[in-house]
Amino acid sequence: MSARILNGNAIRDQIYLELQAEIAALGAAGIRPGLAAVRVGDDPASKLYVNSKIAACEKLGLASFHITPPASTTTEELLAIVNELNSRDDVDGILVQMPLPKQIDSKKILDAVIPAKDVDGFHPVNVGHLVAGRPALVACTPAGVMEILRRSNIPIEGANAVVIGRSDIVGKPQALLLLHANATVTICHSKSKDLPGIARRADIIVAAIGKAAMVTPDFVKPGATVIDVGQIVIHDAAEAERIFAKFPDKLQAFRTKGSVLAGDVHPEVVEVAGAYTPVPGGVGPLTIAMLMSNTVKAARMRRGARAPAAAASRN
Ligand code: GUN
Repeated sequence: MSARILNGNAIRDQIYLELQAEIAALGAAGIRPGLAAVRVGDDPASKLYVNSKIAACEKLGLASFHITPPASTTTEELLAIVNELNSRDDVDGILVQMPLPKQIDSKKILDAVIPAKDVDGFHPVNVGHLVAGRPALVACTPAGVMEILRRSNIPIEGANAVVIGRSDIVGKPQALLLLHANATVTICHSKSKDLPGIARRADIIVAAIGKAAMVTPDFVKPGATVIDVGQIVIHDAAEAERIFAKFPDKLQAFRTKGSVLAGDVHPEVVEVAGAYTPVPGGVGPLTIAMLMSNTVKAARMRRGARAPAAAASRN
């Protein structure tokens, strides 16, 4: 039997509908939430990501400010940009796209964004709130994974959840969110022993490693839910053939384009899993949806005394 597909685009659309109501309520009080996205230099992947974030703002009617200093920008210059955004009343969320050029001290920059505008949830104050179970602004990708699980009626309470990957951006906050939802959580990483054996105990696997097709069918208990956070562009023909041997459409796409997108989860996992998120069209759309949700939330939190409370249950 083939697994149920958890459609991230459909869940994103549902969240956008809810957000539109909240944005309209804020608009009636004269508040238009605004997001400032800072992209340093010309990294093509960062350009693509930031452009998608700006496009989402435009679609929802949020104000957006796209700031693109050159790759030669110093830490001090970027700090000045962040400080200016911190002080602006029309900027509710600040996002500094990672990774930053090597000469910039990324930690200093992330620490400079005031926690009330930290829509990425990367500031230590927001991370601390998450650890303490009183989250304000939560990292977008793990928050999006929780939306997928909840809105797809995947039981979390009491479930064995295995998070593969321990990054600050995904693995660690993901584990905390699952824990707060009463899952029994295991975090695995590159030094874990018998990764397939640990993963096979999971009712829910979240793969956030950044290694194409690493989670193979032998990692998956029959019927488990498998969430794939990975997005890796494959340029190598042999690798594409190895991963997508049973998926002629993907191989054809590779031959046409010279590249194909893979996740951390091997596509043949569909034969074992109960439900899974595809790549693309799974977790990806939710990352941007949660950024929009965080921006609206930040506007409400910071300027909300000037607006009536609107219903919001995300995070
Ligand atoms: N780079 C990769 N993912 C992210 C993200 O979620 N936010 C930011 N700011 N940079 C990233």
